[in-house]
Amino acid sequence: MRVAVVVVAAGSGSRLGRGEPKAFVELDGVSILERALRGVRAWSTEASIVVVAPADRMRDAEAIARRVAGGIAVVPGGEHRQASVASGLSLVDAEVDVVLVHDAARPLTPPAQFDAVVAAVTGDGGAVPGLPVSDTIKRVDEADRIVETVDRSELVAMQTPQGFPRGPLLAAYARADREHTDDAALFALAGHPVVVVPGSAAAAKITTEADLHRAAQSLRGEATLEGGGMRTGIGIDVHAYDEESPLWLGGLYWPDEPGLAGHSDGDAIIHAMCDALLSAAGLGDIGGRFGSDDPRFADARSELFLRDALGAIGGAGFGVVNVAVQVVGNRPRIARRRSEIEAHLEGLVGAPVSIAGTTSDHLGFTGRGEGVAVIATALLSRLDG
Ligand code: CTP
Ligand code: MG
Repeated sequence: MRVAVVVVAAGSGSRLGRGEPKAFVELDGVSILERALRGVRAWSTEASIVVVAPADRMRDAEAIARRVAGGIAVVPGGEHRQASVASGLSLVDAEVDVVLVHDAARPLTPPAQFDAVVAAVTGDGGAVPGLPVSDTIKRVDEADRIVETVDRSELVAMQTPQGFPRGPLLAAYARADREHTDDAALFALAGHPVVVVPGSAAAAKITTEADLHRAAQSLRGEATLEGGGMRTGIGIDVHAYDEESPLWLGGLYWPDEPGLAGHSDGDAIIHAMCDALLSAAGLGDIGGRFGSDDPRFADARSELFLRDALGAIGGAGFGVVNVAVQVVGNRPRIARRRSEIEAHLEGLVGAPVSIAGTTSDHLGFTGRGEGVAVIATALLSRLDG
């Protein structure tokens, strides 16, 4: 099954009121659009991506798209969201089976929400994530007098991505003769069923300054800090260059770069991350879990170790708040692919991962170009229950 994701980011962000389109406003140092695209890329399903951007900010949007991954198409949007979605749909390949329409303004939507939506789309029917409404809802008149209390058990607040079979969605868009508040409304009016799957608090839309603040807080793990139970860990890994081996670093393949010697694929970033995660949870180290002379792990992809470490710390009752990594060495140049590595590792870890690179100014083994050293720290918080 082929999937395309149309990320709509052409709105003006008037309620946020920053004087520039919301997609370019930074959320903890990274633009909302870049965070949204990283989220889509971190999803394990292979999908083509179309970004719908403000017509007067095409270059900025293209630069962000390029930073996240190659092959992301960018088109200008329209005056209303519906026109922007239509513009994005015009670039969706005819071979695509399922189209997801996603708000860039929901940059922290978890990958599992994409999975749940895609799984519920049928040949004729759409699927949308929704959350039960927790506040009591009143209907009021023009003078703000309460007319009635609405039965909230019948209400669900809509989120994105909203998923649809491509053909019926395009036909519904071609026939639409007025503005709808979301794609599900337009699709349902064309006579198709739409089911609701569970949404999530993390997928909340950033509309106001308070939303932006809340999202930044959750990214920094401040909310969890208040609850205590935080643990930090550190990990270091060193590997010599090996011109004969392919280079795997940060879970990515690096053509035209010298590889790293090691029993597995030598991915020093992932090894240092594993040690940081395990040490934070007090679970020893990677060498203790996977013997370096165990033939089962010769040439193993290091992501296996990372999955094991994450499983172990989860089993010990911890969740990852964030991981920070510093790579010391002359090659490869980390900055070139930083965003791609971060997006890939965030997808594996399920929490922010930041990567930095530096040389050691010609000093020591890294300065002489003999190998790389990687230092990682991890912050964990104890999960409730
Ligand atoms: N959107 C769009 N084109 C428009 C209007 C909205 O692509 N003409 C996108 C926004 O960029 C956003 C999503 O639709 O990702 C949801 O819209 P909303 O949260 O309302 O964003 P804005 O319209 O930018 O904000 P506001 O309504 O406060 O101006
Ligand atoms: Mg709007």
